[in-house]
Amino acid sequence: MATTFDSTMSTRAGKAENPADAFAIPLALRINGKEYSLRVDPRTTLLDCIRESVELTGTKKGCDHGQCGACTVHVNGRRVLSCLSLALLHDGLEITTVEGLGTPEAMHPMQAAFLTCDAYQCGYCTSGQIMSAVALLNEPCGPDDAAVKELMSGNICRCGAYANIVAAIQQVRKRA
Ligand code: FES
Ligand code: FES
Repeated sequence: MATTFDSTMSTRAGKAENPADAFAIPLALRINGKEYSLRVDPRTTLLDCIRESVELTGTKKGCDHGQCGACTVHVNGRRVLSCLSLALLHDGLEITTVEGLGTPEAMHPMQAAFLTCDAYQCGYCTSGQIMSAVALLNEPCGPDDAAVKELMSGNICRCGAYANIVAAIQQVRKRA
């Protein structure tokens, strides 16, 4: 059953909170296998829609300018920077966020490898790193660490956990 969110819903005296709400248009997103019926401002990014309308906050906003990778999600199985994509362009597409990869009880192998390899410090970049790492498994990538570093170069880690991130990815690749 679809979940409905309407950003035009008012909280006071039947009036819209924001003048932009008058231009909101309907949008159906499929995220982690669940349908969401939304009304969004046409200028809303996929990132803001996921975090603020759908309230899945595992996807992080770092730079909001396509430079850090913290907002990486999958669209039809391919990695996308959700801060650079308009939500409206994803009507009917299959979107996966870090919440859709696994659960604490049944983690995706990449999530488990990040834990066992200690591939994070503050964790802010981690969901984007994991989403890119999972996508990398289906991309042309050479076997060595240098090839992994190249394909992960769009994901910045301010804590500098790069060595352990590469180790986690290689652990999963070797087991595949
Ligand atoms: S928040 Fe999207 S690339 Fe930084
Ligand atoms: S773990 Fe802190 S930014 Fe990467």
